[in-house]
Amino acid sequence: MNDNLITYNDSKHQVSESYRMLRTNLHYLNINKRYKTIVVTSSNPGEGKTTTLANLALTISQTGKRVLIVECDLRKPRVHKMFNVSNTKGIVNVIVERVPVQDVIQKVKELPNMEIMTAGPIPPDSTELLESKVMKELIVNLRETYDTILFDTPPICSVTDAAILSSQVDGVILVVASGETNIESVRLARKLLDKIHANILGVVLSKADMSKNSKYYYQYYQYDNQTEIKKKSMHH
Ligand SMILES: Nc1ncnc2c1ncn2[C@@H]1O[C@H](COP(=O)(O)OP(=O)(O)O)[C@@H](O)[C@H]1O
Ligand SMILES: [Mg+2]
Repeated sequence: MNDNLITYNDSKHQVSESYRMLRTNLHYLNINKRYKTIVVTSSNPGEGKTTTLANLALTISQTGKRVLIVECDLRKPRVHKMFNVSNTKGIVNVIVERVPVQDVIQKVKELPNMEIMTAGPIPPDSTELLESKVMKELIVNLRETYDTILFDTPPICSVTDAAILSSQVDGVILVVASGETNIESVRLARKLLDKIHANILGVVLSKADMSKNSKYYYQYYQYDNQTEIKKKSMHH
């Protein structure tokens, strides 16, 4: 598995614990209303969308829920690299050639409850595909089979793909890279999401410095040395 899949490679790491907290938060949001289909996006490239999505998907699947990742960053698909699966066929084949979904959905050997629909060949106009009727029908059909479906997207401030998709799902998670994303980009992302009445479930702060002296270092139990329980401010 890819190094960025920390929840698989080191499930006791503090970061993996943060993903479990995120899973728990989503679970509580879900009590009154079902958020089955969720878009993960961010203002800019490289903020950690794919990393966040992959680790969150894995963490949710560990509770026994059936999880599907759908790669909708059709411009720079990376999900297949996170899980070392092939990207020869994917959602593009489903939308353009009407290939049956079962033919493109891949299972991950090590992760029994997780499945992945990669992108497939890079299309000339990804926006057109994502706003097609076939895409809408696909989302409706996938809802029948999976408990949670997470959609990876391109950055929302660069292209409209993420906004289009966000209007078709139950909720959106906005990834913001700590110390990297400027406030104006976050505001623009918010504005774009509000415009299409997207349901922003929350913001995930990625790349936060979690070393002991940082403000993001928060209360947690260390597994190896349980005598130490640190408590600091919880801005996270
Ligand atoms: N939470 C994080 N903490 C530290 N580095 C991260 C985090 N999330 C992502 N990265 C790093 O940032 C880079 C971009 O991540 P990626 O998930 O591909 O971003 P995006 O999908 O938004 O373009 C990668 O090199 C990854 O290792
Ligand atoms: Mg990405």
